Amino acid sequence: MRYGHFDDQRREYVITQPNTPLPWINYLGCEAYFGIISNTAGGYSFYRDARLRRLTRYRYNNAPFDVGGRYLYLRDNDRGEFWSPSWQPTRTKLDKYECRHGMGYTTISSSYSKIEAQTTYFVPLGETLEIWKFQVTNRRKKTAKLSLFSSIEFCLWDAQDDATNFQRNFSTGQVEIVDEVIYHKTEYRERRNHFAYFACSEKLAGFDTQRDTFLGAYRSWDNPAAVERGKSFNSVAHGWAPHGSHHVKINLKPGETKEIIFVLGYHENPVDRKFDPPNSQTINKQTVKPVIAKYLDGKNVTAAFERLQHYWDDLLGIYQVQSPDIHANRMVNIWNAYQCMATFNMSRSASFYESGIGRGLGFRDSNQDLLGFVHMVPARARERILDLSATQLKTGGAFHQYQPLTKRGNNDIGSGFNDDPHWLILGVAAYLKETGDWSILDEPVQFENEPGSEQPLYEHLRRSFNYTLERTGPHGLPLIGRADWNDCLNLNCFSDTPGQSFQTTTNKDGTVAESVFIAGLFVMAGKELAAIAKKRKLNQEAERCLAEAAKMEKVIYQHGWDGAWFVRAYDDFGKPIGSKVCEEGKIFIESQGMCIMAGIGLKDGKAKQALASVNKHLATKHGIVLQQPAFTKYHISLGEISSYPPGYKENAGIFCHNNPWIIISETMVGNGDRAFDYYTRINPSAREKIGDMHRCEPYVFAQMIAGKDAPTHGEAKNSWLTGTAAWTYFTVTQWILGIRTDYDGLRVDPVIPAKWKSFTVTRRFRGNTYVIEVRNPKGKQRGVKKLLVNGKEIAGNVLPVRPPQSKPIQVEAVLEG
Ligand code: GLC
Ligand code: GLC
Repeated sequence: MRYGHFDDQRREYVITQPNTPLPWINYLGCEAYFGIISNTAGGYSFYRDARLRRLTRYRYNNAPFDVGGRYLYLRDNDRGEFWSPSWQPTRTKLDKYECRHGMGYTTISSSYSKIEAQTTYFVPLGETLEIWKFQVTNRRKKTAKLSLFSSIEFCLWDAQDDATNFQRNFSTGQVEIVDEVIYHKTEYRERRNHFAYFACSEKLAGFDTQRDTFLGAYRSWDNPAAVERGKSFNSVAHGWAPHGSHHVKINLKPGETKEIIFVLGYHENPVDRKFDPPNSQTINKQTVKPVIAKYLDGKNVTAAFERLQHYWDDLLGIYQVQSPDIHANRMVNIWNAYQCMATFNMSRSASFYESGIGRGLGFRDSNQDLLGFVHMVPARARERILDLSATQLKTGGAFHQYQPLTKRGNNDIGSGFNDDPHWLILGVAAYLKETGDWSILDEPVQFENEPGSEQPLYEHLRRSFNYTLERTGPHGLPLIGRADWNDCLNLNCFSDTPGQSFQTTTNKDGTVAESVFIAGLFVMAGKELAAIAKKRKLNQEAERCLAEAAKMEKVIYQHGWDGAWFVRAYDDFGKPIGSKVCEEGKIFIESQGMCIMAGIGLKDGKAKQALASVNKHLATKHGIVLQQPAFTKYHISLGEISSYPPGYKENAGIFCHNNPWIIISETMVGNGDRAFDYYTRINPSAREKIGDMHRCEPYVFAQMIAGKDAPTHGEAKNSWLTGTAAWTYFTVTQWILGIRTDYDGLRVDPVIPAKWKSFTVTRRFRGNTYVIEVRNPKGKQRGVKKLLVNGKEIAGNVLPVRPPQSKPIQVEAVLEG
């Protein structure tokens, strides 16, 4: 069953029924101010850091699932009845309902008893505020006397503290109401120099800023006392729970429409100019007032909305495809690219499944996120690379996570995830291939954020590589540390204490357990670093990297090949994991994908053999599961992976993130049909028709789809913030469609379904626009035999970098394989 449909023309997903199986959400903001919004206006907002600068409160894991948001209530003052035009929180049955999630905005429209309402929520570029543009129309034959109430709940900034430290928080809340604007200023009196504000473009009939007054005791958002009685209490919060609610009275003649704008924002004052007058306790509003005034003006709102749309036109215009497959087209052209922006901004911190409290930005996650983002805003990718590498340890290891606000490594989690450093090499390589900006390698970057420790970024890459060389185990394979890519394969943990963190508990000295996955990653990163070194004319260095990679490859052949697939790891007893000799977990996906992507087994058939094993043992119609057979019980020597019930998460779930590794591997062996088939199995748009089973949004990838061992096989979970976004985008655009960035140009190397007759990609790259038409008259799956550039044939399949031209460059490629 479907709950809506795609509107590709407008780049929107249109939800036509409010009670989706799970909240179907969208992100507002793509720079510094962010919001998450569901199809029924649930969600919350924050500035930069979802934990430390939370503007509005949200209660996770609620029933109903999604409570707390950007709510509006309409009340018919003659009849006394009221409803939510976004369905929640009153859940009044609406005559019409529609939610359109678009690029950086969401519009929720509805109609109830002939009153039409429409709210568009978005964050203007360059601002630290969000706008709710509300329009209401009277379709009755009589004048409608209405009241409009807004409602948000302020969070007392640190979302963790806000949710736990009540003995203090119930006494700290403070607000100011000046010129009908509600200012939330908890802790402004002491060490904070920032506050929030909530303003409305209309003359107010009243306001409330104390939650419990607005709601009334023992009531909830589905029937607030103020709304029920049709009149605000003009409450002024002191302590308890600061809240923001405006009350506006609207009289609408038949056919009349009224527009009302709400602005919710975040503002900082210089520390020495916090108060006005200086010796008072009143917020200095000099710099915020013009901002508020600007956006309470409809003209400016319209202009800001148009700018946002142009911004996305431009970003999405960098890579557009027209292929025979509608699902691939809309994901590549619209939604997958859009999701890559969200994962770049949020990493894994704030979604409806990530609380925004526990995790900052992951080192490996953020590096991988670059793969799907770097072409959109290279300058921000550059900044991210420099931030990430500044948290790198002198040993070449990395803090596993860092807080975006402080840009410091997170001590609670620390380091010791031995795959981490290599992702930096891959992230930087992706940046260099996109931009050709070699200067980044000379940027001085600190280690561990320590002033004085600066070394060129290139030195960071060397240390990343050397980190593994200095940490190999009994078989000569890399030691795994706390975990590799699979956070839940904790081979040194051996925890028997409930609640202990699998990632930070270490009961073994870590000198035995090894990872074949990291070995593959090392080979891949080594080859990449060699290519970079060569470009820098460091030939010896390049030779060294290649020699070490070749050595590791030998070790993989010797100890990492199980007969029909690659072994996954060796445990603390030196026994293989992911081998036919194991009882459970005989074959894992990660080492197959990573070793083949590193080029191992391509010449001697081992890659094909491993891929056949994946197809036989791991592939399901909903995607490829992580391993088989699933772990039926807890294995203390394996850690968290065996803590999940079979079929979920890392225990044999379809962990979508690494499906693309197999898809790339299939393209590397030339199997375009199978590559595309695997891609389609996890493509959310292609799964739209099984919405009841899939349950998550059909426009973005989810981290996981339940595997075949789970009772809910096919059900997606943890949508939005997943490495799947970047990896699938990278895979489809660069490996299936095959328009691949390289150090010296754009490679054209598609590996496609045999039945595709042709497709066209438009790609902006280093100052030029290429219109690339690929023709496949003979029904091949790969092999560009002819490449014409503006009508002239060129040798090879790389389009060389050229000085920017005003006209698009026409490219024709013919597959003859
Ligand atoms: C989550 C983590 C990621 C990890 C993966 C597999 O997606 O964010 O870092 O690689 O799980 O455990
Ligand atoms: C948990 C999750 C896993 C994730 C890890 C990151 O272990 O199950 O998927 O990668 O946390 O901290």
